[in-house]
Amino acid sequence: MNSVGHINHGLWAHPRDESHRFNELNYWIDLAKTLERGLFDGLFIADITGTYDVYQNGIDLTLRESIQLPSHDPATLVSAMASVTQNLGFGVTVNLSYETPYQFARRFGSLDHLTQGRIGWNIVTGYLDSAERLIGQKGLKDHDLRYEQAEEFIELCYKFWEGSWENDAVLKDKQKRIFTDPSKVHSIQHHGRFYQSEGVFQVSPSPQRTPVLFQAGASPRGLAFSTRHAECVFIGGDQPEKIKQQVNKIRELAIQQGRQPEDVKIFVGITVVTAETDLLAQQKLAEYIRYASPEAGLAHYSSSVGIDLSKYADDEAIPYQQTNSIASVNHKFKEKKITPNDLKAQHILGGRYPLIVGSGETVAEQLIQLMDETGIDGFNLTRTVAPESHHDFIDFVIPELQQRGRFKTEYHQGSLRNKIFKNGDHLTAQHPAAHFRCQNPKQSKAQQFDLSKQSA
Ligand SMILES: Cc1cc2nc3c(=O)[nH]c(=O)nc-3n(C[C@H](O)[C@H](O)[C@H](O)COP(=O)(O)O)c2cc1C
Repeated sequence: MNSVGHINHGLWAHPRDESHRFNELNYWIDLAKTLERGLFDGLFIADITGTYDVYQNGIDLTLRESIQLPSHDPATLVSAMASVTQNLGFGVTVNLSYETPYQFARRFGSLDHLTQGRIGWNIVTGYLDSAERLIGQKGLKDHDLRYEQAEEFIELCYKFWEGSWENDAVLKDKQKRIFTDPSKVHSIQHHGRFYQSEGVFQVSPSPQRTPVLFQAGASPRGLAFSTRHAECVFIGGDQPEKIKQQVNKIRELAIQQGRQPEDVKIFVGITVVTAETDLLAQQKLAEYIRYASPEAGLAHYSSSVGIDLSKYADDEAIPYQQTNSIASVNHKFKEKKITPNDLKAQHILGGRYPLIVGSGETVAEQLIQLMDETGIDGFNLTRTVAPESHHDFIDFVIPELQQRGRFKTEYHQGSLRNKIFKNGDHLTAQHPAAHFRCQNPKQSKAQQFDLSKQSA
């Protein structure tokens, strides 16, 4: 995240942690170079609009522990990092609830050009009441209604990215004085429940057109959305059996949506602490734990579920309460008895992602086993002490994975989409976005935008 702390709270206070430098461009430039050295597919940047103010009904702890506050706009980082890398992808989170589809599509279309097709969008709808107050809205929309709005938002984005300009519209022909062929640029029309738009998109076709689509919906409505649209799905979970169930469900739902199971890549979030040997890794973990803040993790969790967890005694079962925040996380209180002590034990490094600790060999073996047992495609690796944890993973774990033939030894060519799916730069014909393509110019004749009749 473009912030000090992200998921593993408290580690910012570790003497070797440099995440307090997040507002310096060099911090990100170095990070991008590091990740490309390690042949990472991409850097995923999470984001929230709003602040974590549910725990203890305020933001004191949030400010003291820097729990994603301050946090800055993630998209601003991308051009600088793209300029020092050739292959690293950038998955940027944008909450669509506070964007207009047009301005958003334009920003990401522009980034797809500047990164030469290395941009992805993590589609989120938000879960914080504090955001609603900041934006001047009346309160968080109903969880499922947010996904309804997301469906229309993304459909309109597809129209802009895929439907307004034909592939060969831009000629740049100096002799004939035709920069763009007017017959190949089309006005889009959209009159929906949430959005209205008419006119041509301002961005010419970019390498991928639609950015690589990431999503993490885990509720029934969220899953319906992610399996229809997403190419990369993030899931949580610490038990292989449960992860496998999620994977099977996602692939089944994708098939029901007319897609192929392999059209969706599934990544599980993990935290890794690694060193030269198992013993040194355990010692490193013990050292990290001294700085971690499980309570800050609880404050983050409170906002995720929309329930002030400070109100419950350490050994008291937290009752399920219906909220409009992250439904799938909140439902855990329905499924089993969970106390604040249970949550704190889960947050020993300040975060709730499963923790793998050991030498490069140990970690590589465990990652491979998890992949083989569950059918996931890869991992979303959280940072702990930054940038140390990135260097450790690259130096200790990646070579072990490579030796076992389970990690690439060089980048595949082309756009981020082509690197991930090895099937070209654009979304496939089975994807819902394909429906909005202007494949047949005659068919959209009525919608053509006659540039000669426009004044400016
Ligand atoms: C790995 C991962 C990363 C996520 N990143 C963000 C994020 O950056 N911003 C955000 O608002 N939500 C984020 N979420 C939450 C999801 O958008 C989603 O709300 C959550 O997974 C629950 O799904 P549901 O909304 O269908 O209940 C993330 C979830 C996961 C598993």
